[in-house]
Amino acid sequence: MSRYMQGDCQQVMSQFPSRSVDFILTDPPYLVGFTDRSGRSIANDKQGDWLLPVRREMFRVLKNDSLAVSFYGWNRVGQFMAAWKAAGFRVVGHIVFTKAYSSKSAFVSYRHESAYVLAKGRPPLPENPLPDVMPWAYSGNRYHPTEKPVSALRPLIESFTQPGDIVLDPFGGSGSTCVAAAQCGRRWIGIELLEQYHAAGLRGLAEFQRPHYAVPASVSQQYGSMV
Ligand SMILES: C[S@@+](CC[C@H](N)C(=O)[O-])C[C@H]1O[C@@H](n2cnc3c(N)ncnc32)[C@H](O)[C@@H]1O
Repeated sequence: MSRYMQGDCQQVMSQFPSRSVDFILTDPPYLVGFTDRSGRSIANDKQGDWLLPVRREMFRVLKNDSLAVSFYGWNRVGQFMAAWKAAGFRVVGHIVFTKAYSSKSAFVSYRHESAYVLAKGRPPLPENPLPDVMPWAYSGNRYHPTEKPVSALRPLIESFTQPGDIVLDPFGGSGSTCVAAAQCGRRWIGIELLEQYHAAGLRGLAEFQRPHYAVPASVSQQYGSMV
């Protein structure tokens, strides 16, 4: 069955078989030491020593000829890009999500989020490619200080996966990727290090635990108690 797990994603993924997930959609810490107005912060958001080892695990667990989409912090793009390439990913697209509001203002008024589309091998092209500029709805950040809106994640899952595929998010936060995957009829695996966000994710996901999202027995056997 699908699982929302608490732990360090590098360690947790090291227990997964190679080439076992169909798609990775993730939103790692942006390496900016973010704290919101109410004092909430996220783990591993200052130093990037985890970037390469985690990317290597992501590459290993992804099936051949498959895709990953990773959000990233635009002012740390050098570090992110170096790690993706060193891990073996090929950069095949870049998506900009436009916001109707500013996250912050300094030299410009910051109104977008961005994500790279990364390939392992030669994935097939989608029938109707998504535009690489897409709208963004404010999530409210109710359960997590940098909560991504499920509405922005769903088109990516619908475009890059098939019903029943396994979607992995190693930096799950409040579980928005897993909720989006559940809504699209995909299986999902989420991992979050911090207890409070993991608990929020479990609460949000509980309502999507319906029988038609159950993982077939053959897959449960393959993944043992992990999935
Ligand atoms: C940018 S946030 C993800 C927010 C998420 N997309 C959402 O909508 O709620 C990144 C998350 O990764 C978690 N994290 C950081 N290092 C981690 C690690 N090594 N393993 C698992 N989770 C980690 C942080 O605590 C944080 O919640």
